[in-house]
Parts: sequence; C-alpha cells; structure tokens
Amino acid sequence: MTLLLRFALPLALLTTACSGSDSTSTPQTASTPATPVVTTPVTAMSLEERGAKIYKRCRACHTLDQDGRNKVGPNLWGIYGAKAGEKEGYAYSKAMLASNIVWDQETMDAYLKKPAEYVKGTKMSFIGLKKQEDRDAVQAYMLAETTP
Ligand code: HEC
Repeated sequence: MTLLLRFALPLALLTTACSGSDSTSTPQTASTPATPVVTTPVTAMSLEERGAKIYKRCRACHTLDQDGRNKVGPNLWGIYGAKAGEKEGYAYSKAMLASNIVWDQETMDAYLKKPAEYVKGTKMSFIGLKKQEDRDAVQAYMLAETTP
C-alpha cells in the first residue's frame, strides 16, 4: 500500500501542476503560438515497464513467478512481507539468515542500493542500483510480479 501511495503521489502532483498552469496562462493568440508541450506520460504502467528492463539485471539469478525455481539466487515470489532467508530449498548465507530483515519497500530499497553494505556477508554478488528511480522502478515491477 505504501508503495502504491509513493508512486501515486508524484502523479497527483504532476496532474495538479498541469491544471494549475491552465488557469493562470494568458489566452493564446495567433501571434503567440502555443509552445508544444511534449510530455512523456508518467503512469504506473511505464514505471513497471522501466522496472521490467532493470529487472533484466536480476534475471540471471532470480525468478519471480509462483513456484519459480531457485537459481543462483532464490525465487522471489511473495517476497514482500516475507522474512529474509525463508525461501524453501535455497541455501542462504549466514548473514542473510541472521539479518532479521522483513522485506518491504524500505528494506528492499536499502538492500538493492548496496547489497554488500546492507547485509554484510551476503552472497548476492550484485553491485547495486545507484539511482533511486531505478530502484523504485524495479520495485514497482517486482511488486506487480511477485504478489498474488
Ligand atoms: C549474480 C546473481 C544475482 C544477481 C544479479 C541479483 N541477485 Fe539477488 N540474490 C542473489 C543471491 C545469491 C542471494 C542470496 C543472498 C544471501 O543468501 O546472502 C540473493 C538474494 C536476494 C534477495 C533476498 C531474498 C530472500 O529470500 O530473502 C532479494 C530480495 C534479491 N536478491 C533481489 C534482487 C534484485 C531485485 C536484483 C536485481 C536488481 C538481484 N537480486 C540481483 C543473487 C543475485
């Protein structure tokens, strides 16, 4: 829910900004042609689509689907709300097993930013996603794909 809110909020702000500028703008005349406003639609869908692209960096090691197999890393179905290190049949690092993390938007963000720093001793050899927008996008995709 918080995740959805966080993505919905910028949309609401954008919408407000657009309608607000309408009311204050001077009427257009033939001598002052309207500047074409080129906007890329920012929708939950496009965030997910961006996330799908970023997820390609995870795909070699993870599956997202229900009953998907464990690869180098564990299957991630149902990961949101789950405790770290609980996917059956997967051999986690001691660090992950001892981490006491519950995966939500915040903990996932921290782990994906710098896995080795957030869980010292993790065996996930992935450098991390530096950009907040990349982490938000991949989380939007993961949430959609891993939640019943
Ligand atoms: C090179 C392989 C590899 C890549 C790439 C990789 N991971 Fe992992 N991931 C792992 C391994 C291995 C673990 C188990 C870590 C441990 O036990 O310390 C793991 C663990 C995780 C966990 C914890 C799962 C649990 O059950 O607690 C999450 C969440 C996760 N990865 C998400 C991602 C995401 C999202 C990406 C892409 C942005 C990614 N990983 C990229 C190998 C990888």
